[in-house]
This record gives sequence, C-alpha cells and structure tokens, in this order.
Amino acid sequence: MTAPSASSAPAQPSGAILREMRWWDIAPVLDLEHELFPADAWSKGMFWSELAETRHPRATRYYVVAELDGRLVGYAGLMAVAGEGDVQTIAVARDQWGSGLGARLLSDLLRQATAFECADVLLEVRVDNTRAQRLYERFGFEPVGIRRGYYQPGNVDALVMRLTDPSASPPHGPIDGPAEGPVQGPVQGTTHG
Ligand SMILES: CC(C)(COP(=O)(O)OP(=O)(O)OC[C@H]1O[C@@H](n2cnc3c(N)ncnc32)[C@H](O)[C@@H]1OP(=O)(O)O)[C@@H](O)C(=O)NCCC(=O)NCCS
Repeated sequence: MTAPSASSAPAQPSGAILREMRWWDIAPVLDLEHELFPADAWSKGMFWSELAETRHPRATRYYVVAELDGRLVGYAGLMAVAGEGDVQTIAVARDQWGSGLGARLLSDLLRQATAFECADVLLEVRVDNTRAQRLYERFGFEPVGIRRGYYQPGNVDALVMRLTDPSASPPHGPIDGPAEGPVQGPVQGTTHG
C-alpha cells in the first residue's frame, strides 16, 4: 500500500501503551486500516481469522495494538510457521508518525519472533512505500527480491525484505543497497508488512 504523506511535524516520542490485540480491538483497528490502506484494506473476517490463530498452544500469529489516552493509535501482526516469521501488517495513526511508535511495534514483533524461535523474518512492502522501507532497513531488513503485481488492484510490485536472526536485530541498523531481482511470481498478496 502507498503510505500517505505525514501532514504535520513528527509527534513527541510516543507514550502509547502496547498490549496484545483482542477481538474487541477489531472495530477501531478496522477504522485505521481503512484510512491507512484504502486500496487493499483487510476485512473484519480477515482480522477475526488472524486472531483465531493467537493465544493457544499451537499459535502461529501474534498481534499487538498501541493505545494512547484510550485511543487505538497503532497495530501490528506477525505470522510464525516452521521457524520463519512474516510481518503481516504494521500501521500507525497518521498523527503519530515520526514518534517512534512504528519502531516500537516492530521491536515488539521481533521480540515475539524470537520467542517463536524464528531464524529469520520476511515481509513484503510496496515498492513506493519508502517510509516503511526505511523503518525496516533501520532494523537490519535487507531487500531480497521483487514480487511483480503483488498488490491488487493496482498491480503494484512488492519489495521482499528479510531479516536474519531477529534476536540480534539492532534498533537502528544500516541502510543497505537495492533489491537483487525477482524471487517468484506473480503472486497476489494480502500482507501489509
Ligand atoms: C510505516 C509506519 C508504520 C512508520 O511508523 P512511524 O511511527 O512513523 O515510525 P517511526 O516514528 O518509528 O519512524 C519514522 C520516522 O520518524 C523518526 N523518528 C523516530 N522516532 C522519533 C522521535 N522520537 N522523534 C522524532 N522523530 C522520530 C524516524 O527517524 C523515522 O524517520 P525516517 O523515516 O526519516 O527514517 C507508518 O508511517 C504507517 O503506518 N504508514 C502507513 C501504513 C504502512 O504503510 N505500513 C507499512 C506497510 S508495509
């Protein structure tokens, strides 16, 4: 998805509280989802089915939300299967961009990836979403390929990024070079991260 431009200067360092997402968060999460991913917002049913895979002995998902003064201002989700993590989504309310909240949410996902014993973590990000790409690069994610036409409708390519050993991820890693080339495809995607 295309990251809309921030309309104002960065907020103060975020004092938001992070906690695990529950079913009663789906409505406010959907409000943010439609605002931030207007072209390919997840449905209510998609969030329900993701949360169904959390909080049980064979859980393969982890979702976190951020609350500030009783308002939901961010959320993020991770899938972990067979030692590999995938950032499913990450989003911050526009008036909180630049407050470090995106970094806090990503740190929380990587902590959970470590708990899931993931050897590496992958994600897809729109090729035109440079703000999100910078966030991922600071954590040590590196471009590993392109998925052509991953985002539909719109036929926008996804940059695939990978972080090896999330337990060792620095909070502000170096920014590395460009993608190497196609990994596979075309594959139509559903992830936002
Ligand atoms: C991508 C996204 C999650 C980043 O969230 P964020 O809260 O703005 O992220 P951060 O604040 O951690 O970092 C963003 C910038 O703020 C800066 N920043 C971080 N903490 C800061 C602080 N305390 N004070 C001032 N600036 C700060 C960072 O240096 C960074 O700058 P840079 O982009 O020039 O490197 C957010 O822009 C978003 O929700 N976008 C729309 C949805 C989306 O595209 N999601 C990703 C899908 S793949």
